[in-house]
Amino acid sequence: MKRAHLRILAPLGRAGGPPFRPAVTVQKRVASSQSWRNGNAPLRNFVPVATLAAFAIVTTTSCFYRKDIQAEALAEEAPRKIRMSEVRKHSRRSDTRWVVRDAKVYDITDWIPNHPGGEVILRAVGGVIDQYWDIFSIHKKQEVYDILEQYYIGDVDPRDLVDGHVPQDDVEDPFEEDPPRDKSLKVHSAKPCNAETPVDALDKFITPSEKFYVRNHLWAPRLDEKSHRFTVELPDGEEKEYSLEDLKKFRQVDVTTTLQCSGNRRKHMTEGSRYANGLQWGIGAMSTAQFTGVRLQDVLADAGFHAEDAENDDVKHVQFQGAEAYGSSIPIDKALSRHGDVLLVHKMNGKPLGQDHGFPLRVLVPGHVAARSVKWLKRITLSEEESQSQWQQRDYKCFGPNQSGADVDWSTAPAIQETPVQSAIVSLKDLPKGDRLRQVYGLEEDAIEVKGYAFAGGGREIVRVDVSPDDGRSWTQAELLPDNAVGSKRWAWTQWRLVLPRRLAGRSFVVKAVDEGYNIQPEYYDPHYNFRGNLTSGWHRVPYTNRDYF
Ligand code: HEM
Repeated sequence: MKRAHLRILAPLGRAGGPPFRPAVTVQKRVASSQSWRNGNAPLRNFVPVATLAAFAIVTTTSCFYRKDIQAEALAEEAPRKIRMSEVRKHSRRSDTRWVVRDAKVYDITDWIPNHPGGEVILRAVGGVIDQYWDIFSIHKKQEVYDILEQYYIGDVDPRDLVDGHVPQDDVEDPFEEDPPRDKSLKVHSAKPCNAETPVDALDKFITPSEKFYVRNHLWAPRLDEKSHRFTVELPDGEEKEYSLEDLKKFRQVDVTTTLQCSGNRRKHMTEGSRYANGLQWGIGAMSTAQFTGVRLQDVLADAGFHAEDAENDDVKHVQFQGAEAYGSSIPIDKALSRHGDVLLVHKMNGKPLGQDHGFPLRVLVPGHVAARSVKWLKRITLSEEESQSQWQQRDYKCFGPNQSGADVDWSTAPAIQETPVQSAIVSLKDLPKGDRLRQVYGLEEDAIEVKGYAFAGGGREIVRVDVSPDDGRSWTQAELLPDNAVGSKRWAWTQWRLVLPRRLAGRSFVVKAVDEGYNIQPEYYDPHYNFRGNLTSGWHRVPYTNRDYF
């Protein structure tokens, strides 16, 4: 395939292109160039005219310059041959970082700050990444291969190949100590483990711990409860260390909380608008548990930082660091609010946290996106700044439908904290004759039961759930089911149910919820499309006729 040097620029208004693509000079395969697609009508119209003009110029001048052009084309076609000794020089110590995959060399310097996995990528620079991607299986998909291809600079010199491959050193598998997992979880990536709660557990108010969705950014560290310590760093740099034993002296608090990944229902955004980058989560990147722990504000006060200090000390954020390297932060107001219920938790559903859920200690930030509830807590820092981690600064943000990873300035959007109103249908079933529910609802005729969840961030209560049996033409209100949630505000989802005559069913059922602020969900996905597919909350539609939907 022919290669040429191109400068790839993000066309105006293009939102569906490859993700995170910075405007850099790269070598790109001409035949697979996407730069005209998906937008920019003036540019498209210009192409045929420009092509004709170029053809005319080339044919009239070719007799004079043919030799030169041929030589140039040949030079362009021959990929640069690069020795492995040169690749190794472009390691983490160099300003320019190269990697090798499948005997091809890539200069990924411009990609590193955009990497969703953060600095762990540096483990591989200056060498071959194949074995890392065998371990970090999240990369084994076309969207990732396409990103890498943009940074191609040449081929490994054949003198460094054995049977067509670069000999590789063994690399340690950091996921070796990951725990065994419930087989019913719907796995999206094994390493790091990202797995949804199975649909049959989504209609329970409390999710059984083993079916609670898993969203790991890296490996799940195996920590020892007795020796584990975490540090609180005060604004003046003073540090105080705590063990799990130390936490026993604080008042123990129970809070029922729903945690939701910002990518929950990303798949629906992809299906309803266009491809949104990331794991294609369905409705199960969300679960609810009863958490037990101590109030963060009590621990901060014990360490020497009191609510009134916040005003004097310019402390605006509380940063959390996990034992595996993940980091994130929340605003100080949330951390210190008497009704914010931010906890350091050690129990989930009455038992010690599971390894995947942060054993022995995690942060719980109710009403905020789950990305702020840092697991395997190692360090708390009171700071003027937000966490500088990848997951605070360059991910978990939303941009406009027309923007792509290529052209955004990440610093212009706030990190997601509270989440918008959300709902989903989790089951849709015909009620057989004699079913108890049909009697309860006084329905002699054939009936359908629809069930689901509704949730709003920020502790906002769900006040209404509207369900349509006929694709949004007519609506009826679902019954909001009672539960025993505890907490200063409504941190848990609301389970709902509707039983209605089957004759009302059209092609698809639809749900939308309303929270106490009268916030509603958008009908379509295009208006809130963002290239990372965060905070998808469009009306959830389930085809009545497709029995395999769930
Ligand atoms: C060199 C080229 C690389 C490219 C183009 C690349 C690209 C990506 C992309 C697109 C994702 C997001 C996937 C998704 O959300 O579905 C990702 C995630 C990740 N990458 Fe890479 N990656 C590279 C190298 C590496 C290496 C060498 C490592 C490890 C040594 C690594 C570790 C990770 C991890 C741990 C995540 C998950 C982060 C999270 O879920 O927050 N990556 N990478």
